[in-house]
Amino acid sequence: MSEMYPYSAVSRQTNKLIADIEKAINGEYTAIQCYTSLAKMAPSEAVRKRILEIRRDEQRHFQQFTQLYTQLTGRQPQPKVIENCPNKYMKGLEAALKDEQEAVDFYLSISDETSNQYIKELFRRTAADEQNHAVWFLYYFTKGRTSR
Ligand SMILES: [Fe+2]
Ligand SMILES: [Fe+2]
Repeated sequence: MSEMYPYSAVSRQTNKLIADIEKAINGEYTAIQCYTSLAKMAPSEAVRKRILEIRRDEQRHFQQFTQLYTQLTGRQPQPKVIENCPNKYMKGLEAALKDEQEAVDFYLSISDETSNQYIKELFRRTAADEQNHAVWFLYYFTKGRTSR
């Protein structure tokens, strides 16, 4: 199939998409590790439960992206932790808040760049989840700052 086409805009776009999905997988993988440690530092049971619920969303995202990556490449991804998880609750919240907001922008750009309807929808829906996570982390961050 590929020899029917010379190296083209289409394959360049597919390579970019695969690289983006790989980056998204690493981001989700890192978030899963960091939210495990953030949940342990939570100041209350209610916050801890919410963080673990967010972590479950990231596990679902991770599985969906992994499945997509495997379908597109025929290979399993090799997920990597891309940043260190802060070991203080407020620092962890701040990092999470920033990562979630960056993920929203990144996923919406992936959604905009693809013409594949399934991928478009998947990243648009995932961006909405990350937006929701960002709001929770902002809420806890603000609460943590004013209660000191
Ligand atoms: Fe996620
Ligand atoms: Fe998230």
